[in-house]
Amino acid sequence: MSTKKRSNESLATSRVWLEHFETNRLTAEDLPWDDGYLLTPSERRAIERSVQQFQLGEGAQGRRLLARGQAQARATGDILFPEALTLLIREEQRHSSQLLRFMRLQGIPAVEKHWVDSVFRWVRVLAGLELELRVLVTAEIIAVPYYCALGGATRSALLRSLRKRILEDEAGHLQFQASMLSRLESRRSQFLRRLLWQAHRWFLVGTCCVVWIEHRSVFAAAGRLFRDLLRDAISEFSGLERAARSRGAKAKQIDLTNRFLPAGTTRPEEGASQ
Ligand SMILES: [Fe+2]
Ligand SMILES: [Fe+2]
Repeated sequence: MSTKKRSNESLATSRVWLEHFETNRLTAEDLPWDDGYLLTPSERRAIERSVQQFQLGEGAQGRRLLARGQAQARATGDILFPEALTLLIREEQRHSSQLLRFMRLQGIPAVEKHWVDSVFRWVRVLAGLELELRVLVTAEIIAVPYYCALGGATRSALLRSLRKRILEDEAGHLQFQASMLSRLESRRSQFLRRLLWQAHRWFLVGTCCVVWIEHRSVFAAAGRLFRDLLRDAISEFSGLERAARSRGAKAKQIDLTNRFLPAGTTRPEEGASQ
C-alpha cells in the first residue's frame, strides 16, 4: 500500500473516532445522580480502597502519551490522531471524575498516590508510543471484568449505571487501541508480531495477579473468583489481538466486550470502512 493511501486511511479512521468521542460526550452525564442509596458498611468495606485506586488511575493527564501521538502524527500525516487521542484521554478522566462524584456521595475520600498506579506510570515513562499503548490497553482490558464486578458488588443503582456507561466507553477504547496497534505494527514481520502479542499476554496475566491481590474484595463481593477474572481478561485480550491483527489482513471486525454491551451498540470502525 502506498504511503499516501495509508495516510488517507489513517486520517479517515481518526475522523470517525473523533465523531464517536464527540457524540459519546453528549450523553456522558445521563446517570442517576439523585439515587439516594447509601452503601452498607460491608459493601463499603468491600469497595472503598479499590474504588479509590481506580479513581486515581483513570485520572492520568496523558501528557507524554499525547506528545508521542503528536510525533506519530507528524511522521504519518494523520493530523487528526492527536485530537482523537486527546478525546480518549478525556473519556478516561471523565470516568475518574464520575467515580469521584460517586465517592463523595458515599463519603469516601480520594487518594493522591498508590504504588500500582506509580508502577504503571513509571513503565509508561520508559516506553515508546506502542509500548505505552500496550500498557494502557492492559489496564483497559482488566477494567472490563473489574467494572463488571464493581457493579455487582453493591446494590447501588448509581454504581450499576456507572458500570454500564464505563463498559460501553471501554469497548470503544479497545477498538480504538486495536486500530492503533494494528497501524503501529503493520510493518513488522509476522514472527515478531506473534512474539510481541505473546509477551503482552504474559504481562496481562501478571497484571491480573496484582489486580486480584489488590481488588479481590470487590470480586469476592460480586461472587467472582480469580479464574473468572483471568478468563474474562484473556478473552478480551484475544479479541483485541484478533481485531488488531485482522485489520491489517482486511478481515471482518471483531466485537470486543460484546457480551457486556446492550444490543445494537455500533463500533466507530464500522463507519470508517464504509
Ligand atoms: Fe476508563
Ligand atoms: Fe479506557
